[in-house]
Amino acid sequence: MGNIASFPSDFTWGAATSSYQIEGAWDEDGKGESIWDRFSHTPGNVKNGDTGDVACDHYHLWRQDVTLMKELGLQAYRFSIAWPRLLPEGRRPVNDDGIAFYERLVDRLLENEIEPYVTLYHWDLPQALQDDGGWAARATAEAFVEYADVVSRVLGDRVKYWATLNEPFVSAVIGHLWGVHAPGHEDMGETIAAAHHLLLGHGWAVPVIRRNVPKGQVGIVLNPSPQHPASPSYADRAAAWQADGFLNRWYLDPLTARGYPADVVQKLDQPMDVVHAGDMEAIAAPLDFLGVNYYTRGVVRDEKVPAEENELQTLFPGDEKTEMDWEVYPEGLYEILCRIHFDYDFPALYVTENGAAYPDEINPDGTVDDPQRLSYFKRHLVQTARAIQAGVPLHGYFAWSLLDNFEWAEGYSKRFGLIYVDFETQQRIPKASARWYSRVIESNAVPE
Ligand code: FCB
Repeated sequence: MGNIASFPSDFTWGAATSSYQIEGAWDEDGKGESIWDRFSHTPGNVKNGDTGDVACDHYHLWRQDVTLMKELGLQAYRFSIAWPRLLPEGRRPVNDDGIAFYERLVDRLLENEIEPYVTLYHWDLPQALQDDGGWAARATAEAFVEYADVVSRVLGDRVKYWATLNEPFVSAVIGHLWGVHAPGHEDMGETIAAAHHLLLGHGWAVPVIRRNVPKGQVGIVLNPSPQHPASPSYADRAAAWQADGFLNRWYLDPLTARGYPADVVQKLDQPMDVVHAGDMEAIAAPLDFLGVNYYTRGVVRDEKVPAEENELQTLFPGDEKTEMDWEVYPEGLYEILCRIHFDYDFPALYVTENGAAYPDEINPDGTVDDPQRLSYFKRHLVQTARAIQAGVPLHGYFAWSLLDNFEWAEGYSKRFGLIYVDFETQQRIPKASARWYSRVIESNAVPE
């Protein structure tokens, strides 16, 4: 059988997770409370009342999980550090037991020749900082720098790849405008402040990490996605451009020294007094890489135009959706990678997350077949290879996720793992897609 795509010889293959979604041990060994502990413990916020209290119990099963990574042949592992495990109050003093956990994990990864890619903030803010205003408060950006300093001093001799934030759009908008993620607020002023302070904390942290890790590669992870108009009408095209501004350009532009996009600022019509002199320069600190998390595109319709006058022309091919109800649109990955490269020109790009939720079941013989997930990965990898051929400096791909885990407001109802997790017994079963992914890694190519 031939291959339908192949990759450069130095391409990096990995899988990703995040601390709150897998670790559990929410109050062990001196860990402080996070906003996700508080949010999930508050009834009504998470489907079925699920919490991350135990999750995949990775805090205790990490050795076995690294062994599974090795068996899959992973070359890299992207994970995040739980800020309140290290700094229970958000700022010093440091909880040494928390640090020791990540030191052991990193050491074990390196012993197995798996490159650690650390994300400092994947949404589990210390509750103590939330009590003082959270990301809506400028002081949280300062606390983030303190945290970044502590972590990069300890792990900087072993960890080369550092991402400051995961998806600041989601922290700011889903957490502060839609109220669906922690801290569960619905306030546009707070949303703009939170987005700004996230970016500011990022920008301030970059030189600190560079100082502590002179040979490090420092970047940030965003969730950019093409926003297509539902029809060619002017109204829908304008609405799609606006959605693009709110989701994509609000982050990409300031990171590349273009400031906040003027059309979005005007549209939002909010005071921008959270922006102080010097902030935009700090946010534009040069980066080594941008991480791209991609799941789907957006199809945007101007709600003011009556549907009968505005026929939907952007079709969902086969109306194929994942269990998240997200359209399967692999070409969108090619499109967004090319656009980011040709419009913004970061030195390197990574696909830091890509994957799909489907309802998996264990077969009588104990295996798990997930042909839809396998097909999702396959088609997205073909688009990834196409982007590289088009000249995009894409250096690696991380499947989301290593393990089935706590999918935020959806709790355990959505499974994204290459590895099935039985949340009653904590048994792990690599799915068919995991075995297929091993072959991709081994051959550095996508088989037919
Ligand atoms: C991304 C998150 C990740 C996971 C996937 C499905 O937005 O970064 O934690 O929940 O979506």
